[in-house]
Formats: sequence, structure tokens, C-alpha cells
Amino acid sequence: MFEGFGSNKRRKVNIEDEPEHTKPWVEKYRPKKLDDVAAQDHTVSVLKKTLTSANLPHMLFYGPPGTGKTSTIFALTKELYGPELSKSRVLELNASDERGISIVREKVKNFARLTVSKPSKEALEKYPCPPYKIIILDEADSMTADAQSALRRTMENHSNVTRFCLICNYVTRIIDPLASRCSKFRFKSLDESNAIGRLQEISNLENVSYEKGALERILEISNGDMRRAITLLQSSAKRLGFGELDKVTSQEVEELAGLVPTPVLNEMIQRVSQGNVNGIIEYMNGFVKNGWSGVSVVNQLHDYYVTSNDYGTDFKNNISLLLFDTDAKLANGTNEHVQILNLLVQISQIPT
Ligand SMILES: Nc1ncnc2c1ncn2[C@@H]1O[C@H](COP(=O)(O)OP(=O)(O)OP(=O)(O)O)[C@@H](O)[C@H]1O
Ligand SMILES: [Mg+2]
Repeated sequence: MFEGFGSNKRRKVNIEDEPEHTKPWVEKYRPKKLDDVAAQDHTVSVLKKTLTSANLPHMLFYGPPGTGKTSTIFALTKELYGPELSKSRVLELNASDERGISIVREKVKNFARLTVSKPSKEALEKYPCPPYKIIILDEADSMTADAQSALRRTMENHSNVTRFCLICNYVTRIIDPLASRCSKFRFKSLDESNAIGRLQEISNLENVSYEKGALERILEISNGDMRRAITLLQSSAKRLGFGELDKVTSQEVEELAGLVPTPVLNEMIQRVSQGNVNGIIEYMNGFVKNGWSGVSVVNQLHDYYVTSNDYGTDFKNNISLLLFDTDAKLANGTNEHVQILNLLVQISQIPT
């Protein structure tokens, strides 16, 4: 049954009410303006034009996790309406809200057809305040196809007073007729050069010192996911001041991320290259006790072998096949240590 807009708000924890110092860093350093959004230059420049022309199409943001999609739309609505007017002009629904077909028919449709409220004088002076509302459907790829279909007419009928912004990780899960009604904006994974500045800035503001290469290692491990990178930086920083540690080090970062430390990995590779099965078994017995995850071993071995110049193409092909095979078996829930032992023994048998 339709419950009105208020009930949903009450259920949500409003992170903005939290004091700054207790917020997790990902929230504390969430971009507040479009200019704070790193690495999405194309998207940001297009959206900034809408600030001057006040002309906005329906939008579809897509891209991998932690690349700034949610942050960008919130920054945009803040810059369009200011904090006060945003409350009445923006409706945000994400995967934690009920968004089945009935909600789309009632809640979304009702909000979409409301006429826009008049902005106050102060708001008009400071912000563009365009004459439409924005409905944000975050994590829209988790909406059922039926619920998405129900949006089609709503989007068209009320486009004089409402714009939609759909956000998702997998653009293929948005039904075609919806996707074709929107301008698409692709969010790229953050690469090292773009994201490093942001991590440096956060470290400076939080007074965290780090050894050379540690931030780069954080980014490598995070794979372009800025949320993961900032969280990893925060957990590494938490350990500073205990014992001898006074800086964030690459080794500590690896440990926190659950990676196998480089010296241990090097020994593994050395044993494998010696081709001695007993040596490998003995090594694995020690390895098991430390509880490293099999999946990280597969990923790290992949990075090592594929990027190394010491091996030929045939060797790399063979290794890749073995690694894919092991990865698939691990994903099926087989015994990690048996699989890794099997992998290492097989690699040791490949002629170099
Ligand atoms: N491009 C970026 N520039 C600066 N900070 C970023 C960027 N992308 C992500 N972040 C950081 O990561 C956090 C998460 O970003 P955000 O919630 O916008 O990601 P998302 O793309 O919506 O991810 P998901 O697909 O998982 O919802 C932000 O609070 C911010 O601290
Ligand atoms: Mg998001």
C-alpha cells in the first residue's frame, strides 16, 4: 500500500547527521562538489554544462563499484538546488528500499507528477534551481524487469517536471527501452595517476605518514575501486602508533588486504621452479597454517607470471589455463589447500 514519502526517510540512517570525526573516511571524503569528483572528467564536464543551461536529460550512470556514481549525482543535485530545496526536489530510492512494481506505480509516479515547488529567493540567488524534480534510482540493476517496464510511461509523461537518473553497475541489466530514454555516462575505474592525488590529500588531512610506494600498492590492490582504497588506507592508518609502526607500509597494506606477503610468494615461486614435489608439499604444510586465501594466491601468481619477462608465451598460456581452472574450482567451494597444492605441482611440471 502507498505509505507516503515520509515513512521511507525515517527508516534510513542519515549519515549526514553524524559528526565528522566518527564518520568512516569514505563518507567524510565523499566528493561534495562536482569538482571534487576525480578521474571522471568527461562526465563531470558534461554535467557542469547543465549547471549553466539548466537543461538536463534523463541520465543513466553505469560503471564498476566505488567509482563515484552515487557521489556525482548527489553533488549535482546539491549544486543545482542547494541543501534546502534538494529536500523537496529530489527523491532517492536505492536497493535497500522497496522498489517493486507497486512502488514504481505509486510512489515514483506520484512524486514524478507533482508540480514543482517554488524556490525561495535566497535559493534562487545562489543556485540555478531548474524547474524540474530529480528522481534517483540508485542500484537500478537490482530492479525487476517488470518494475523497470512500469517506469517507461512515467518517464515520458512527466518529463516536463521530472528527470530520472538511473545508476547501476551492469548496464546490460537495464532494459533497452529504459536505456534508450537516457543519456548514458560511463564511469571508469580509477587509474593510479588519478586516484593517487586523492589518497595523498586524505593522508595529509588525517596526518597519516606513509612510506614511498604504499599508496600505489593500496591502489593496485583496490583495482580502481576508490571506496576500497580509502577503506584500506583507513584500516592501515588505524594500526599506526602501536608498537614500532609510525608509517603506513606496503607490507602492512598487503597484510590487511589478506594478500600473501611478497617474501612468502617468492619462496613459493622458487620451490615451484625447482620442480621438487616433496619440497612443494613441505612448503604447503607450513603455508596451510597461516590461513591465506586460495583465491589471493591464484590472483597473485597470475600477476607475477603474466607480467614477468622471464617466461615465454607458451609457458604463460599453460599457466593461465591452470590458474583459470583452479579459480573455477575454488569458486565451486572445493578444498583450497588441495587445489593450491595441485596447482603448484602442475605448474612445476610445465617445461619452461
Ligand atoms: N571519482 C571519485 N573521486 C573521488 N572520490 C571517489 C570517486 N569515486 C569514489 N570515491 C570515493 O569512494 C566512495 C564511494 O563512492 P560512490 O558511492 O560514489 O561509488 P559508486 O560508484 O556509487 O559505487 P557503487 O557502484 O558500489 O554504488 C566515496 O565516498 C568517495 O569517498
Ligand atoms: Mg552507488
